[in-house]
Amino acid sequence: MRLAGRTAIITGAGSGMGRAMAELFVAEGANVVASDVVKERVEAVVQAITAAGGGPTGGPAGGKATGGQVAGVVADVSKVADVNRMVDEALSRFGTVDVLVNNAGIMDRMLPVDEVDDEVWERVLGVNLTGPFLTCRRVLPHMVERGKGVIINVASIGGLEGGRAGAAYTTSKHGLVGLTKNIAWAYLEKGIRAVAICPGAVETAIGVGGVPSQAGMARAQKGMVTMPRVGKPEEIARVALFLASDEASYVNGATVTVDGGWTSY
Ligand SMILES: NC(=O)c1ccc[n+]([C@@H]2O[C@H](COP(=O)([O-])OP(=O)(O)OC[C@H]3O[C@@H](n4cnc5c(N)ncnc54)[C@H](O)[C@@H]3O)[C@@H](O)[C@H]2O)c1
Repeated sequence: MRLAGRTAIITGAGSGMGRAMAELFVAEGANVVASDVVKERVEAVVQAITAAGGGPTGGPAGGKATGGQVAGVVADVSKVADVNRMVDEALSRFGTVDVLVNNAGIMDRMLPVDEVDDEVWERVLGVNLTGPFLTCRRVLPHMVERGKGVIINVASIGGLEGGRAGAAYTTSKHGLVGLTKNIAWAYLEKGIRAVAICPGAVETAIGVGGVPSQAGMARAQKGMVTMPRVGKPEEIARVALFLASDEASYVNGATVTVDGGWTSY
């Protein structure tokens, strides 16, 4: 029950790591706002958590005494109106936001710069970087007012290195690492921690985001042979749980690499 009594918003909670985090956080006592742009995914994760014992807010189960509750919100993180509504719904249902996990993200087909069109650039940056900025901007005044809060940004080892994805994704995740560090320092004296998780390759639905660039893929594959193994979403969720909890009270502004040792090569 490491998150008992806390409320967490998790974006991209309908699949992969976000879903694993939603399930684990509720099991650890948190009330979770499970948000995703895909309605069916939101419904599925809420149903799965409810079936496991965490009740939806206001639902007949009402949540088990041993776990938290879950509420689904359909929202596109790249749209300011959706983000504001998501945060407002979290506050009106649960009263507080203690933890914000910016997990929603999309890939970029491994496109090198000369193959990136405006639409891809704007969409990838919109979801992966502007989205977390918008959520943080909405949540931070509330956290400042309460004098506490944790922001976890799911970046990538593509936010630390140059060859793990295409230009747009790599840029967005490097930007997200920068946003994390800026928030950590700017709000340090307000009781707020901000950390970035940098996963390696994890078994989820993300893929490469469509038909990959031949040139981009060929370059990325040069380093793929050094990858020790593909991780499981639960292995990332357990790190997120630690970072969200008070056990990580001295972890702030850090980039936590979770890649099975891939970047140690
Ligand atoms: N899987 C990997 O190998 C890997 C490695 C490093 C980092 N990451 C990052 O981890 C995060 C989670 O990805 P995943 O691998 O679990 O992928 P996933 O595709 O399984 O899950 C991502 C979820 O985000 C949702 N989403 C997409 N666009 C959205 C939007 N605009 N608004 C709200 N939700 C949106 C999707 O519908 C999906 O349910 C992403 O930020 C990704 O970049 C993934």
